[in-house]
Amino acid sequence: EKGGYDYFMLKEIAEQPQAIADTLLGRLSERGDIVLDEVRLTDQDLRDVDKVFIVACGTSYHAGMVAKYAIEHWVRIPCEVELASEFRYRDPILDRSTLMIVISQSGETMDTLMALRHAKEQKARVLAICNTNGSTIPRESDAVLYTHGGPEIAVASTKAFVTQLVACYLIGLHLAQIRGVMYADEVAAVVSRLRRTPDNLRELLTRMEDVRELARDLKTASTILFIGRHVGFPVALEGALKLKELAYMHAEGFAAGELKHGPIALIDKGTPVVCVVPSPAGRGVLRDKVVSNIQEVRARGARTIVIAEEGDDEVAAYADHLILVPRTPTLLAPLMTAVPLQILACEIAAARGHDVDQPRNLAKSVTVE
Ligand code: F6R
Repeated sequence: EKGGYDYFMLKEIAEQPQAIADTLLGRLSERGDIVLDEVRLTDQDLRDVDKVFIVACGTSYHAGMVAKYAIEHWVRIPCEVELASEFRYRDPILDRSTLMIVISQSGETMDTLMALRHAKEQKARVLAICNTNGSTIPRESDAVLYTHGGPEIAVASTKAFVTQLVACYLIGLHLAQIRGVMYADEVAAVVSRLRRTPDNLRELLTRMEDVRELARDLKTASTILFIGRHVGFPVALEGALKLKELAYMHAEGFAAGELKHGPIALIDKGTPVVCVVPSPAGRGVLRDKVVSNIQEVRARGARTIVIAEEGDDEVAAYADHLILVPRTPTLLAPLMTAVPLQILACEIAAARGHDVDQPRNLAKSVTVE
């Protein structure tokens, strides 16, 4: 049943290219139009939207953080992202022209469900991204875009996360298209890059041996820090979450620019810092900023594990360990950069002798608030 893998988690990590392809399937017309057939909101409803709220928990929240960057960049409407457990306790301002996107693998997470109900009471339109057909969250939503990741057995979310990202990208591109903010050829260009990501990821997955070796090396670390900027920031948070939940180690993700406002004091000789480097193409400024953050932590003794794009040769000079991922447009990069971090956490947990698929104290679906 584990298909030759030691853990469901490893099997599900390996299934990610197919899961992405399945989530894209049937959603893109030959002309590059995006077809969201299960979305029961009219195009006019979506044109009337003047604000987007994305609400979710845990890993799904990290997917939502990435979505915020994509939606604001492509659609040019304000987009907030918030933890479901915080959302309704602060009296958020919602109305008919608010689009609330709830993201949930299981479709049963109580915090997310309660936030959804709160939004509906305020008359917001609710669109769910969900991996479980017929679950409560999509049933109570105005519309649903199902991710076709297939059942996820391991408690730690992996393939659901990447398919949530794909669903978010599709929604962002769809909104941009029907609102006339992006030209058809611009949308088509992103779509064609999205279509290549399963192959890119398949290739990346064939060369993760170094990451496994690194994991054995890091299993006794007392903390591992993760830094990133822009969409690399949620990836850093996700890398740290995976490590906490599976390896029961202290880990923390930071926006790289925040280091100097406090966390840099944590860096000691040999502290492992995983650095997610943005693509040098397009937004080279962002990449250069992260590179200078890497130099800052290195100067204080950190051991740097750098995740960068193929072709960014210069970055090797700052890396104690370099993990290169296939090139993608900046906003799509989390589909690549998150994956070595999943493997790192899984392998560290296994090296520490933990049950990777069933971490202590955790349940696959959290149906209490
Ligand atoms: C982490 C993980 C959890 C879930 C969170 C939300 O690996 O799996 O953080 O992402 O409990 O669950 P869903 O997406 O089912 O609402």
